[in-house]
Amino acid sequence: MDYHRNHQSRQLFDGIAAQYDWVPGLFSFFQYQRWRRYLVSRLQAGPDATVLDLCTGTAGVAMQTARTHRCRVVGVDLSHKMLSRAQRNLASNGLAGQVPLVMGRAEDLAFADDCFDAVCVTFLLRYVDDPESTMLEIIRVLKPGGRLVSLEFGVPPNPVARALWHVYTRGVLPMAGALVSRGWRNVGGFLGPSISHLYQSYTADGLRELWLRLGMLDVQVKRLSLGGGVVMWGTKNGSIETVGTIGR
Ligand SMILES: C[S@@+](CC[C@H](N)C(=O)[O-])C[C@H]1O[C@@H](n2cnc3c(N)ncnc32)[C@H](O)[C@@H]1O
Repeated sequence: MDYHRNHQSRQLFDGIAAQYDWVPGLFSFFQYQRWRRYLVSRLQAGPDATVLDLCTGTAGVAMQTARTHRCRVVGVDLSHKMLSRAQRNLASNGLAGQVPLVMGRAEDLAFADDCFDAVCVTFLLRYVDDPESTMLEIIRVLKPGGRLVSLEFGVPPNPVARALWHVYTRGVLPMAGALVSRGWRNVGGFLGPSISHLYQSYTADGLRELWLRLGMLDVQVKRLSLGGGVVMWGTKNGSIETVGTIGR
């Protein structure tokens, strides 16, 4: 089944897949790679583990995970063009056998309950209608005791940094995007308001509370680059009965 929100995301990412491997690094002053490295360092996965890399995009996080933890990684994404690029990247890095790719939606994962040793998710929540039920679906496929790690953009808490962040996301990014392509101009215009919109509903602490309510334990938050990137990690509770009612 296809939903309006998913259709919009697919169009957006299909339009930027060709340059995705270098533009985010450049536009984030190379903080993006740092955030990814930190994210992958929070994963707990041995060589026998299978890790779900949700929103795998062009497989940047998936490749880093496969190399760092020497485990199997399943990459899932809804954009055909991002996945084609991922396939190429995996093949040219000799990782295609270690990282199978699946086209799918985070809101409705085609996997059994409790089947992944760890789950990694990047920049998803701005693209779903219902972050709570999507997080619950993600936690469903994670084994009890398994590690969930996530990376999202954040709004810097310091007022000076926040003002600079506003100028950059509202003024500079749309212009810089337009220099690359029409697709990147769209992303450059959409990104700042979309981050602020999610942040109004969920600050980093709000997301942490949500994870705890959905049955995650030991949830920790690390703000990187003055809060422009937010990495969270936690462990799925062994007892499914303790998962609380969803609703805010
Ligand atoms: C910013 S990219 C993530 C990039 C990647 N993980 C990396 O290493 O840089 C976000 C990805 O999420 C995917 N996406 C957006 N909404 C999704 C959904 N509902 N289910 C699955 N993937 C989704 C997009 O197609 C896009 O490839």
